[in-house]
Amino acid sequence: MSTQRDHGQAPILVTGGTGTLGRVVVARLRDTGATVRVLSRSSHDPEQGVEFVTGDLATGEGIDAAVRGVEVVIHCAGSTKGDEEKARQLVEAASGAGVRHLVYISVVGADRIPVVSGVDRAMFGYFGSKLAAERAVAESGLPWTTLRATQFHDLFLMTARQMARLPVIPVPGGFRFQPVDAGEVADRLVELALGTPAGLVPDMAGPRVYGMAELVRGYLRARRKRRAIVPLRLPGKAARAFRAGANLAPGGAVGRRTWEGFLAERVG
Ligand SMILES: NC(=O)c1ccc[n+]([C@@H]2O[C@H](COP(=O)([O-])OP(=O)(O)OC[C@H]3O[C@@H](n4cnc5c(N)ncnc54)[C@H](OP(=O)(O)O)[C@@H]3O)[C@@H](O)[C@H]2O)c1
Repeated sequence: MSTQRDHGQAPILVTGGTGTLGRVVVARLRDTGATVRVLSRSSHDPEQGVEFVTGDLATGEGIDAAVRGVEVVIHCAGSTKGDEEKARQLVEAASGAGVRHLVYISVVGADRIPVVSGVDRAMFGYFGSKLAAERAVAESGLPWTTLRATQFHDLFLMTARQMARLPVIPVPGGFRFQPVDAGEVADRLVELALGTPAGLVPDMAGPRVYGMAELVRGYLRARRKRRAIVPLRLPGKAARAFRAGANLAPGGAVGRRTWEGFLAERVG
């Protein structure tokens, strides 16, 4: 019996394969004929071409089993807090398992949004965590690729839905965003995962830049609702960096689907 791995057979591990981005990554990988393994904190029945492993990246529980026999990992698991610890747990297990390509999804501005004060941390600690997670990946000794993307349309849809419950909607004044389609980011991640490790690749963003109020107004229009929108000036260095556009990627506007196009499909 050969001890060599058959590259065509080793499953590709997708952490966060149950999330907004990860679900599409899994579907795209399946379309290529790959066998996919999904890590989730809860148990799931297997699906055609997809097996599930239960584990928690916050504690490390179940992660050794998740990476066993895997050569490529696409790390899409994340939350608003603690992504650096999740990345460390994954890197440690993957290093012991002979993984030959770790692909990570980070956020545009991770390196440009300073998280220094308590105020910065309370509102924008996510960006500091993503930068620390990027470093854990880059310093892991594993061959790696990291893609930074801007916010997905789905995030603004969720935010706008919540805000529309209020009679008056507060928005951070001077903040602009360049939302991108999660499906297009998934396509790019799969392309990167099936290629050779490339380090930090160019940022990926949507085709247009919008003010936060403009994003909310687009949603209200699609729902035929009327609300007053009030800009609020947020304090701190991170908020200042946002107002200066540190979360935008004008040179990375490769996404095609606009916020209006997304809304027409999902809300209209
Ligand atoms: N959303 C955006 O606008 C945006 C923009 C740029 C980059 N990103 C990055 O893209 C990635 C995916 O974002 P998303 O919006 O698709 O996230 P999401 O929909 O909130 O899904 C999060 C995923 O992470 C998994 N997860 C969370 N904590 C975990 C833990 N402790 N152990 C194992 N799995 C855990 C969840 O799996 P279970 O619940 O099944 O355990 C779920 O599949 C994140 O790294 C995020 O930072 C997001």
